[in-house]
Amino acid sequence: MAEKIGVLISATEVESKIQEMADAISKEYEGKTVHIIGVLKGSVFFMCELAKRLTIPVTMDFMSVSSYGDGTKSSGIVKLVKDLDESIEGREVVLIEDIMDSGRTLSYLVKLLKERKPASFKVITLLDKPDRRVVEIEPDMTGFVIPDRFVVGYGLDCAQKYRNLPYIGVIEE
Ligand code: IMP
Ligand code: MG
Repeated sequence: MAEKIGVLISATEVESKIQEMADAISKEYEGKTVHIIGVLKGSVFFMCELAKRLTIPVTMDFMSVSSYGDGTKSSGIVKLVKDLDESIEGREVVLIEDIMDSGRTLSYLVKLLKERKPASFKVITLLDKPDRRVVEIEPDMTGFVIPDRFVVGYGLDCAQKYRNLPYIGVIEE
């Protein structure tokens, strides 16, 4: 049976929010080159749309992590699957996330990357589900705070599907 996807945040709303976020970043890093790091694969759509709207020089890199669990629940153990290609020492780093949930992935990445001595380090996320937080960590910039619902689209998947939806959706039973 085909799943029905309801719209939680429309494509237009997502795009105008990304424009706002890009404007704020361009202003904050004026005169500098910002090095944006995307966490594969979820953050790719958000990262591209954001990067296209930045008016300052931009460099990009990617990393990939996985969290091990028993299949239904995350164990909270995060493993690095793909490291960065370049050193971040002395760079203005902005880590791009699709969604912040328990906060485990982000707290692992923040610790790992801050040890590499960037000139500055910030985290921005398109979506935040603060009700689900297990680890005490807050992003420096958030697109939308959303309720505790499983969302898809704009990079976010359900069993690898729906990443390509141009809006943030929820699977309806
Ligand atoms: P955290 O370590 O619990 O914060 O997990 C964050 C990761 O879990 C995100 O990068 C997503 O890959 C995934 N995730 C959390 N909530 C959702 C959701 O509602 N839809 C799709 N993926 C999600
Ligand atoms: Mg992710």
